[in-house]
Order: sequence, then structure tokens, then C-alpha cells
Amino acid sequence: MKGSLLYEGKAKKVYTTDQPQQLILSYKNDATAFNGKKKDAFEGKGRLNNLITSKVFEYLHQHDINSHFIQSLNDTEQLVHQTTIVPLEVVVRNVAAGSITRRLGIEERTPFTPPIVELFYKNDELNDPILNDAHAYHLTDVTESELMQIKGMALEVNEQLKALFKDVGLQLVDFKLEFGRVEDGSIVLADEISPDTCRLWDIETGDKMDKDVFRENIGNLIETYENILQRLEAYTCAK
Ligand code: C5P
Repeated sequence: MKGSLLYEGKAKKVYTTDQPQQLILSYKNDATAFNGKKKDAFEGKGRLNNLITSKVFEYLHQHDINSHFIQSLNDTEQLVHQTTIVPLEVVVRNVAAGSITRRLGIEERTPFTPPIVELFYKNDELNDPILNDAHAYHLTDVTESELMQIKGMALEVNEQLKALFKDVGLQLVDFKLEFGRVEDGSIVLADEISPDTCRLWDIETGDKMDKDVFRENIGNLIETYENILQRLEAYTCAK
């Protein structure tokens, strides 16, 4: 049973439940970019991100990658294990796009082999600055072995998701993960994995099929996310 509102973020609301250590995530229709400087709302976006994230976490569970995800409850809500979020955004990049092209002057669509892992400090006031490992130890409670575990998991998620998206005709360009601590102190994958948090390009056309359609005003966000969900649903039905 859904309890009280615990926290409201830019894309989700978090509610308590009658079960200890379990929370309900409710996906909102709001879209934000450039650290909240660009804002809009799209009817149906919450449903799409809830259903896409649920499919992705179910796929990862089947491939031995555990997360906070327990189950999808309805169109816009999912049940998760309670975690204390580690304030790091872990980005994995297979191809250059977004901030790395501006920060390092690398041309968009340049491939990265092996993939590049970057850490950012999850802090809106500071605009989520990029960090090195020493900064991460100073600013968070992660240990050296936990940071190794986090980066290893991020690369494993990359391998699994590259294969999943390739099977549905999409190139996984980059994505952002968050991790949280559960009650016993161990670290699990948390938050969401959706077109809000990944860059996905159509393998045949090269079209951008993720939040960049909103960031760059280059298409219809709802039609794009619906297309991603339909591809993932067709894939899971065929398996
Ligand atoms: O903006 P940047 O190029 O660093 O983003 C890399 C990846 O991380 C993109 O897929 C983007 O959608 C995701 N990201 C995110 N939340 C942030 C920053 C980036 O989901 N706060």
C-alpha cells in the first residue's frame, strides 16, 4: 500500500509503503534538460519511462545484474528496495555525444573502444561537476573497492544493454547510472534506465531516439519513447 510522499525529484516522486525497506517510485510527465534550465511536460512520458525502465531492469535481472527494482505496479509506478543513493552519476560512453564533445572537443559520433567511464557529482547547485576517483572518495562514503565494484558493474551493464538494444535496432551511445546502499550496506544499481538517461541512435538511420529530441528540439518525445517501448516489448515477446 502506498504511504506518504518522501521526496520529489525532477522526474520521479518517491513514496513510502507499508513494507519496511520498500518504496514506490512514481514517474512524472515532466521533462528537464540542462540542469533544469529547459522544462516541459509531456502527457504519457511517466508511463513510458516506467514501462521502459521496468523492461530494462527485468532484462538485467535475467542477466545476473541486480538492482533496486522489484516490480512494476501499474502504468506509472514501480516497487523498489529502499536505498541511500550514492551521490555519483556514473556515465558510460561508447560513442562521443553530449557533454564530452563540448568538454574535450571530440567530434560527435567518434567511437570509444574501450568504453569511457566518467564520474559526476550529483549536485544540482554545482551543476553536477565531473570528478576523478580522489574527488569521489572525498565527497562520498564509497571505498576504493566499492568504486571498483561500481565501475565494474557499469561496464557489465553496458555490455548487456549494448546487446539488448542492438537486437532491437538501436545503438547504445551512452548512459548514466546511479547506485544506492541497501540496509546491509551493500551497493546495488538504482534509479532508472530509460531514454531520459541513455542516448540511443537508430542503427539504420542514425536518428536520435532519446531525450536529445527534447534537448535539441528535433522531434516528438512521446512518439520516440513509444517507439523504444514497442521495440522492447516486441523483443521480450519474441524471447
Ligand atoms: O550530458 P552528458 O553527455 O554528460 O550525458 C551522458 C549521458 O548521461 C546521457 O545519456 C544523458 O542522458 C545521461 N545523463 C543523465 N542525467 C544527468 C546527466 C546525464 O541521465 N544528470
